[in-house]
Amino acid sequence: MISSEKKAQNRFRIVLGGKNILLGVTGSIAVYKSIDIIRGLTKEGATVRVVMTESASHFIAPLTFEAVSGNRAYTDISGEHLNHINLSRDAQVFVIAPATANTINKLSCGIADNALTTTWLAYKGITVIVPAMNSRMYENPIVQKNIRELEKLGVIFVGPEQGNLICGEEGIGRMADVGDIIEAVRSALTPKDLSGHNILVTAGPTRESLDPIRFISNRSSGKMGFAIAASALRRGAKATLVSGPTSQHPPKGVSFISVENTAEMREAVLENLPCSTAVIMTAAIADFSPVSISKSKIKKTDALTINLEPTSDILKELGRKKGRRILIGFAAETGKNIKNAKDKLKDKNLDLIVLNDITQEGAGFDVDTNIVTIIDRRGEVTDYPLMKKTEIADIILSRMLQLKSKR
Ligand code: CTP
Repeated sequence: MISSEKKAQNRFRIVLGGKNILLGVTGSIAVYKSIDIIRGLTKEGATVRVVMTESASHFIAPLTFEAVSGNRAYTDISGEHLNHINLSRDAQVFVIAPATANTINKLSCGIADNALTTTWLAYKGITVIVPAMNSRMYENPIVQKNIRELEKLGVIFVGPEQGNLICGEEGIGRMADVGDIIEAVRSALTPKDLSGHNILVTAGPTRESLDPIRFISNRSSGKMGFAIAASALRRGAKATLVSGPTSQHPPKGVSFISVENTAEMREAVLENLPCSTAVIMTAAIADFSPVSISKSKIKKTDALTINLEPTSDILKELGRKKGRRILIGFAAETGKNIKNAKDKLKDKNLDLIVLNDITQEGAGFDVDTNIVTIIDRRGEVTDYPLMKKTEIADIILSRMLQLKSKR
């Protein structure tokens, strides 16, 4: 395996692995979510140290944070020599979640009157602030002004979200989801090697209706395509994701187009082709659709014959229209059929084809992992071991980048 691929393979793991993260916790009812932030970050190999305000410790005791993080949680640094300096020097990211209006205002003005604000004032790295407050406080012009001031300094804000607030009101102010916060930390630490790229990704199955109730489809979960779109975005690209029906949540920041059948997917893909620099077709597209869709429910009979016709081959059409774009297809097969994949690559005028044998354990549909073989136009075949789909996503994007740099 060439070294750039090895790097890509490890990219996802190393983004958070070995990193020191400071978690600043302030006194908001949303403080319970901070526990899950620690869990999520440490699961990916980061070390988390907590600095809390006194009012945060009224909601959850420092001991709880110490137990979950495995490190001391700091509430008071006044009696100790240079703790704020040591803590701030060692950290690569300072996440403040939940962040109250009071703390945001203090940070913006450079006030250092507690362990959290003093440590932040001495800190020079990436800051991610996750506000949580009542909507009227959030919309207060002073808070808004201070958020903008901090943004100008490069501080990253995640949320807040719209929804039901603890005070019984509805509005903006809910703390962002833990998954989005962790993704923001990953993204902040990820080199933007795909900036300037516009990646069009397809995902999931397509559904071809038989009648108002039934359809023909397949087992695709969409996980691979969603992982590619998320990774492209994290690495600085713009990402457009065209997906058939799945239970996946579109990554925040991805331009998401939901479709049902192959004809809709074709239309969305062709519409977005002109502004894309690369297309990655992970979608498991139904190869056939019923010749006609029954307007009423098809009733039970002794035997049923359904006439099917081929759907349009979107990838093949893209192969004719791709211009200088990199075009990557997938081949899900029962068996490792290299010859078949090579034929598909040639027939559809692809730059790369990603072959996976869905019969292997840990590979294929509806699992978080896959075992793939990537074949290029020269016929070079690279086998990859069992990996997370998130890792494979990074490998595919790095292979795409390599090809692009040669164009
Ligand atoms: N594909 C497509 N349009 C179709 C069928 C497939 O764009 N109507 C794309 C898929 O998204 C995938 C690639 O073509 O990237 C290969 O799909 P696959 O189903 O493996 O191959 P087919 O060309 O359908 O051939 P076969 O089913 O006979 O293996």
